[in-house]
Amino acid sequence: MITWTIRTRLTFWYTCIFGGTLFLFGVLTYFAFSYVNSKSIDIGLKEEADGIIHYAQLSKDYLKEYIERISNESGEEWAHEKYVAILDNTGNIQFISGDIKGNYLPLSSHQIQEILSGKKYYKTVKNTKGHPLRIITMSMNDGLQLIQVGFVFKNNKTSKTFLMMLMSLGGVAIIGSLLGGRWMAKKALDPIDQMIRELQNIETEHLNRRLTIGPVKDEIHKLANVINGMLSRMEDSFKQVRQFTADASHELRTPLAIMKTGIEVALRKSRNALDYQQILANTLDDLGRLSKIVENLFLLARADARRYEIHRERMNLSTVITDISDQFMIVAEAKNISVSIEKAEDVFIEGDELLIRMLFFNLIDNAVKYTSQKGSVSLALHKENGFARAVFKDNGIGISQEEMPHIFDRFYRANKARNADTRGGGLGLSICQWIVKSHHGTISVQSALHKGSTFTVTLPSC
Ligand SMILES: Nc1ncnc2c1ncn2[C@@H]1O[C@H](COP(=O)(O)OP(=O)(O)O)[C@@H](O)[C@H]1O
Ligand SMILES: [Mg+2]
Repeated sequence: MITWTIRTRLTFWYTCIFGGTLFLFGVLTYFAFSYVNSKSIDIGLKEEADGIIHYAQLSKDYLKEYIERISNESGEEWAHEKYVAILDNTGNIQFISGDIKGNYLPLSSHQIQEILSGKKYYKTVKNTKGHPLRIITMSMNDGLQLIQVGFVFKNNKTSKTFLMMLMSLGGVAIIGSLLGGRWMAKKALDPIDQMIRELQNIETEHLNRRLTIGPVKDEIHKLANVINGMLSRMEDSFKQVRQFTADASHELRTPLAIMKTGIEVALRKSRNALDYQQILANTLDDLGRLSKIVENLFLLARADARRYEIHRERMNLSTVITDISDQFMIVAEAKNISVSIEKAEDVFIEGDELLIRMLFFNLIDNAVKYTSQKGSVSLALHKENGFARAVFKDNGIGISQEEMPHIFDRFYRANKARNADTRGGGLGLSICQWIVKSHHGTISVQSALHKGSTFTVTLPSC
């Protein structure tokens, strides 16, 4: 299959349309020219016939003399080209001139009647040489006779010359349109060529580069804007992926290094069973942390790839919130923190129980984790026109205004949290955000440093 470039296609269609229009114009001009030409012959014929009739009326001898003159001149050159005949009013020839004898125009009685009643009758026949002969027939002498005057018309030649001129001019115009069309197509496609060149220079290393945008707000301008938007999004996701990989490897490296050093130290000399037990317990602790991070990473990866299948079922949120707060009682007691449920209205949602439990767990876990000794954590669940609103309030370390926009980012942990002796991978809130989003809900936070934080989740109820 032949594949044409856009440029060739544009040129082809441009030339076709231009050529077609030109052809139509040429044909119409040619016909108009031929028509005007034959009209002028008809006018000449009528003038000649009128002249003869006029002089024949003035003097009775004129017609005789005229006929004699023509007869004497029958050998002349023009005799082949001019023809005069006189007929009686029944159509019988009384006189016929020129060398065109035998080619006169026979008339039917109906035609004769029409001519006698004043009509002028035109007809084109062929002369002996095969040239077209245009003849007018009119009545004369008060309807006693008919006169026929004919000219061989050479306008054929003129028409041919005109046609030739038209064709050669048309040819030149088509070649011109071909070259012009090609030039125009190139001009129109130039910005796209430039765009291709610029895009070829943008590699993954230089995703910050953008296409030059011209001042004219045309289709190319729109395309460049769309591509630039796409490049920005690509740059962002590339950055995110890089950051994510760096953060993930960093988070995994630390517990691995601690475990490695712990085991190396343990192996340096022989120890008693209690020491080994302690070392193994520490290692298990680190392994637990490591596998939690890997689990969370795996969950987020599946969420990103939309591979996590959410199993929705009707569930009562008050059961979930009481269950989970019970789970934290022991940890909270150890830290001397009170965990209380202010209100737990029965409110039902369509949700994935596993994920909703994880959501509440992460939020209560943070509240307990980031609240110092003797603090308090209070939970509340409200039913509000079509929504379930869960509030997780603590009077812990709080979050500063600068750090607030980042707490939902993957692996982000505020300085305070890092410094405090708390363990975490910084993935909890990212997971919470994904869970809330996949349940068509919202999550928001209000916090003041050293005063405490309030996380609010709303989910559509059923
Ligand atoms: N209740 C809270 N009080 C204070 N800071 C919080 C609270 N919840 C979250 N944060 C901040 O948000 C960061 C991210 O939370 P999260 O994603 O759960 O990670 P992690 O708990 O593993 O540190 C935390 O490190 C902490 O700085
Ligand atoms: Mg957390």
